[in-house]
Parts: sequence; structure tokens; C-alpha cells
Amino acid sequence: MIIVIDGPAGAGKSTTAKEVARRTESDYVDSGAVYRGFTYLFMINDFDKSRLTEALKNHDLHFDFHIDNVRVTHGDKDITQTIRSAEINNRVSEVAAMPEVRDEVRRILREISGDRKRGVVLEGRDLGTVVFPDADYKFFLTAAPEARARRRFDEQTRAGADTSLEQVRENVEKRDRIDSTRDIDPLKKADDAVEIDSTYLTFEEQVARITDFVRS
Ligand code: CDP
Repeated sequence: MIIVIDGPAGAGKSTTAKEVARRTESDYVDSGAVYRGFTYLFMINDFDKSRLTEALKNHDLHFDFHIDNVRVTHGDKDITQTIRSAEINNRVSEVAAMPEVRDEVRRILREISGDRKRGVVLEGRDLGTVVFPDADYKFFLTAAPEARARRRFDEQTRAGADTSLEQVRENVEKRDRIDSTRDIDPLKKADDAVEIDSTYLTFEEQVARITDFVRS
């Protein structure tokens, strides 16, 4: 069973997808972490597009997804924290708009998900439209921009980041703009996805909307 949850930044996809995975005894995959891993690869290649093909061919990135522990490594180096840094936040949408990167990430996501004995809950932007058009369940999780910026700010300050609500809002707006207007695989609700606006829902309510639907 494949459950996909797409939506813009800060809509609550990660926490929701993890909880849905727990309650449905499924595995969990964060496709954004894969794009972030590739953004790291570009960062250490000075964002030089002429080195793109070579960098993608021998990338040595590894993604290990567990509900309570997502681990991303490059060679021997653990980059799990680095991929959440402000620099990666600022460049990830640009890297994710490159067709060669999307091809490779799509391949990785299908490989990871095809390999599992249990169901899998994946979160992202284009999973219901492009990567898993035949997913068993598709959800599109959204919320008002102000609520998304506020949630993301609270989450980052809880994790000890030194940032401001304004900075977070700018990054969320910029990524949404690039993600939804890019030429390939833009952020978009699949026609057959169930849309959930979480602006006025509690966490429990938003998880229940999905699990009730999956169990019914
Ligand atoms: O957690 P948040 O929603 O803020 O971001 P993320 O899921 O870590 O995704 C980071 C970025 O990766 C997004 O802003 C997109 O540019 C890109 N992405 C994508 O293009 N397609 C996906 N399926 C997942 C992420």
C-alpha cells in the first residue's frame, strides 16, 4: 500500500506523515530529504551546473528512512543536520527544478518504495501527480501561508535555530513560488487527491482525517 501526502512548505506534512505511518504500521519516506541531499551535493560542487552530470553519476548519497530517525549520508559523512541548514533551505527549490536531479530522485524514491514488505507513507510535492500516479491513497495537505510560516518558525526555534518569523516567511514564500511555477513536476494537487486544509485543525484532527479515510 502506498499513501502519498503532497503539499506546500510548513503544511505539517512531516509530522502528519510520520504519525499516519505509525498508525497504519507503514514505513515512512521523506522525498524532500532526498532533494536536500542533492542540494548538499551541489553546494560542495560550488553550484556549478557544468559539474552536474558527473556529480549525479557518482553521487554516493545514502538515505536511510525510519519514522523516528531519518539519516542522510554522503560517503562517510553524516549530513542529516546540514541538509536542514539555512543555505540548503535557500537553494533547494532551485536544485529541485533541474530535470536531471528530478529524474534521479524519482528513480531513488521508486526503488526505496518498491523494496518494502510493509506499506509506505511518502511526503512531497509531486508524488501523487508524477512519482506515484497509481498510489492507493493521495492527500494534499495545505494551510494558510501565515499559519505555515508560523508553524515552521516555531519548529525551527524549538530545534535551536537562530532565525526570525520574517526570514522563515520569506523562505517559505520563495520556495512555494519556485515549486509551483517550475516547468517540470510543479507542486500541484493531483485530480484524485483528497485535499485537507489544516489551518484550523488540531494535529490529531488532521491525522484522523487521513487514517479514517484509509481505514474506511
Ligand atoms: O519540509 P518542507 O515542506 O519545508 O520541505 P521539504 O519537503 O524538505 O522539501 C524541500 C524542497 O524540495 C521543496 O521546497 C521542493 O523544492 C523540493 N521537493 C520537490 O521538488 N519535490 C518533492 N517531491 C519534494 C520536495
